[in-house]
Amino acid sequence: MDRIFSGVQPTGNLHLGNYLGAIRNFVDLQNKYECIYCVVDLHAMTVWQEPKKLASNTREVTASFLAAGINPESSIIFNQSQVLAHAQLAWIFNCVARLGWLNRMTQFKEKAGKQRENASVGLYAYPNLMAADILTYKANHVPVGEDQKQHLELTRDIAQKFNNDFGVEFFPEVEPLIIGEATRVMSLRDGSKKMSKSDLSDQSRITFTDTEDEISRKIRRAKTDPEALPMDISGLKSRPEAANLVGIFAALSGQTSSEVLKDFGGRGFGDFKPALADLAIEKLAPISSEMRRLLADPGHIDAVLADGAERARAIADPILAEITEIVGLVSA
Ligand code: AMP
Ligand code: TRP
Repeated sequence: MDRIFSGVQPTGNLHLGNYLGAIRNFVDLQNKYECIYCVVDLHAMTVWQEPKKLASNTREVTASFLAAGINPESSIIFNQSQVLAHAQLAWIFNCVARLGWLNRMTQFKEKAGKQRENASVGLYAYPNLMAADILTYKANHVPVGEDQKQHLELTRDIAQKFNNDFGVEFFPEVEPLIIGEATRVMSLRDGSKKMSKSDLSDQSRITFTDTEDEISRKIRRAKTDPEALPMDISGLKSRPEAANLVGIFAALSGQTSSEVLKDFGGRGFGDFKPALADLAIEKLAPISSEMRRLLADPGHIDAVLADGAERARAIADPILAEITEIVGLVSA
């Protein structure tokens, strides 16, 4: 059976881009595939995390998975550090991946910025750990937002080099699943930047913990141009802010951007923004309130993670045992 794996970092400020680009798709996929959804705490540590915050953010992402509708009985939900196979395979992949490949990673360049010499070694090797996450389950489909495409290409390169180097047909070909009308949600303040957890402006993103008032205010204040909405999507080409809001509306309402413009083409943002705010509140408010309810009982969340980790180990450990044998690591 085809197996899905995906991960979300517990770095706080979970936002609408995470929901539309990833988490919502996780929910839709769980009836069609065997799904493994991981809170990637080891990835989060590649940049400094306050220990208490890391723990509470791990529970918060877990709560968002549950509140969005992932069923912890049919899908596996766990945090990465509880399954040691991830870190073990990542080491093996550190020895398979080439420096030249990692040097091309744009996420590293963006995150390290000018302080490159001061970035952690973990941030540099991040994509190798991501490849290990996926391949320690031999997962072949990975639902992500568009920003992860390059990392998944690297995963494919690592899998292929491993197979070639050791003369095996062991790892499958990994396919990214980049689905929906909002695979790259942009900042509400700047249509050329993606919506991100680390943007200094809280006005740039709608988060899972925003109140209804905050959601509405952020959408009303979102940057736009003075024109009315175009009649079809070709008119969105040089209007990134308008394209972003229409894309968000489409993704939330389950329509295409063209369908949204059938209703709103020719109308101004004065009409469109309140409709978008109502829709965003309708879809997000139930998730936020369920998250709050779940977070009041951290013991339950930890139990979900422990159960998921046990089921994840049952899949990963035998695969890792085969890998160690292939590469010649002796185990008694
Ligand atoms: P991260 O928060 O970096 O762990 O991302 C978790 C998931 O959300 C990944 O699948 C990302 O590709 C996706 N994602 C993050 N930001 C956005 C965005 N602005 N638009 C769409 N998807 C996103
Ligand atoms: N790098 C991903 C992100 O920042 C998170 C991630 C870690 C991931 N491991 C993964 C996504 C494995 C998919 C599969 O969004």
